[in-house]
Amino acid sequence: METIRPGRASDVPGIVEIINHYVVHTPVTFAVEPYTLETRMVWFDQFAPTGRHRLFVAERDGKVLGWSASGPFRAKAAYETTAETAIYTAQGEEGQGLGTRLYERLFEALRGEDLHRLVAGVTLPNEPSVHLHTRMGYEQLGVFTAVGRKFDQYWDVAWFERPAP
Ligand SMILES: CC(C)(COP(=O)(O)OP(=O)(O)OC[C@H]1O[C@@H](n2cnc3c(N)ncnc32)[C@H](O)[C@@H]1OP(=O)(O)O)[C@@H](O)C(=O)NCCC(=O)NCCS
Repeated sequence: METIRPGRASDVPGIVEIINHYVVHTPVTFAVEPYTLETRMVWFDQFAPTGRHRLFVAERDGKVLGWSASGPFRAKAAYETTAETAIYTAQGEEGQGLGTRLYERLFEALRGEDLHRLVAGVTLPNEPSVHLHTRMGYEQLGVFTAVGRKFDQYWDVAWFERPAP
């Protein structure tokens, strides 16, 4: 069984390895260039051990298997009580409840923080992610059509929201 704990700077190499698979081979993230350690450290620096913006990782035998995170939704001040969440598991670790446990741990940590809404965007099609977000209390509000172009193709993004925990 894996351990789920707050993410550390030393997890970033493992995170880069996982995310770059999805960057290079899939539209689930709209990044088109693989991350480097440096560019992913900028992402890591938005999280803190307390407050609205958290990072949790799942680790087994010293290996990062996935993460959940809550980051800023938009920069303008009135959006500060809304966080955008993200969740990824390593290739080969899907469908074993890891995503569920990572989101549960994140929501537990966010309880009591000054947050009002969680939002998430899912590139379609992605049945496991749609299923997970729905089961974790998110409601699908609508679909932005053809808002991303990757692999010379346009992709739709479903938008989800839920009350903050
Ligand atoms: C999406 C993702 C985070 C889900 O995490 P996970 O550990 O696989 O999720 P869980 O096992 O906790 O739950 C997945 C749910 O989807 C269901 N599911 C799995 N594969 C499915 C599929 N192909 N079609 C439909 N449902 C599926 C599972 O049955 C499970 O639901 P249940 O527990 O109610 O039966 C993970 O698969 C992942 O990282 N995928 C690749 C990257 C990605 O898409 N990230 C999300 C970007 S928005």
